[in-house]
Amino acid sequence: MALQIIIGLLLLIGIIILGKKLSKHKSLFPLMPFKYNFALRRDTFVETLRLLEQRNGKLIVETGTSRDGLKNTHGDGAATIVFGKWAQRHGGKVISVDISEDSLKGSQEGLNDENLNNVVTLELSDSIAFLENFDQKIDLLYLDSYDYSLHDEEIQRKSQEHHLKEFIAVEKNLHDDTIILIDDCDLPGGGKGKVVVEHMLKKDWVIVTNAYQILMVKKSSLKN
Ligand SMILES: C[S@@+](CC[C@H](N)C(=O)[O-])C[C@H]1O[C@@H](n2cnc3c(N)ncnc32)[C@H](O)[C@@H]1O
Repeated sequence: MALQIIIGLLLLIGIIILGKKLSKHKSLFPLMPFKYNFALRRDTFVETLRLLEQRNGKLIVETGTSRDGLKNTHGDGAATIVFGKWAQRHGGKVISVDISEDSLKGSQEGLNDENLNNVVTLELSDSIAFLENFDQKIDLLYLDSYDYSLHDEEIQRKSQEHHLKEFIAVEKNLHDDTIILIDDCDLPGGGKGKVVVEHMLKKDWVIVTNAYQILMVKKSSLKN
């Protein structure tokens, strides 16, 4: 009897531990295999892609590529692969621009592994210069380039200014239904989005989701 109670208790403890682990595991299944944990970005990725589908968006532009392919879903987010998978299923295209040859090499390996070369194009360039010369209309813009620092205020300022300059450079390519997602926002010092979001809020943009990532659309697009 005592043994049965002990086994029962152990089973209960096991179930509780498993339940806690599963509640922290933020999967993007069925878009991505269940084993990948997208952590803080999962819900905003889901919301972004839901909105993109609703708006019949096709062209996704990302600044800052997935330098570790799918290996860093928890840390960097692996958005190039996630958006690539989405594009493959929805007749879309992804353009991911990065200033670093090493980052592009890692991203290319990830694209090869996932057979995404037909939908994702990688570009080697400073993102601002690239966006200044870009001539297509963008349906989803993902700002995630200049790495942010948790402690160095100078790097924080430079990262924030860089993301603002990206928005200014690309404004001509945005349309009424464009969606903008900005990464690494809920961080000390305001994160990558601090300055660009303030700037956008003074214009025709509103925040749809304010979390680790900030999701924004044009106010006028919400009237439909
Ligand atoms: C956080 S990672 C991007 C992560 C990626 N979006 C993902 O979801 O996995 C930041 C990337 O931005 C790139 N980067 C930094 N400064 C840049 C610039 N001026 N123009 C373009 N890319 C830049 C870095 O080389 C790095 O690969």
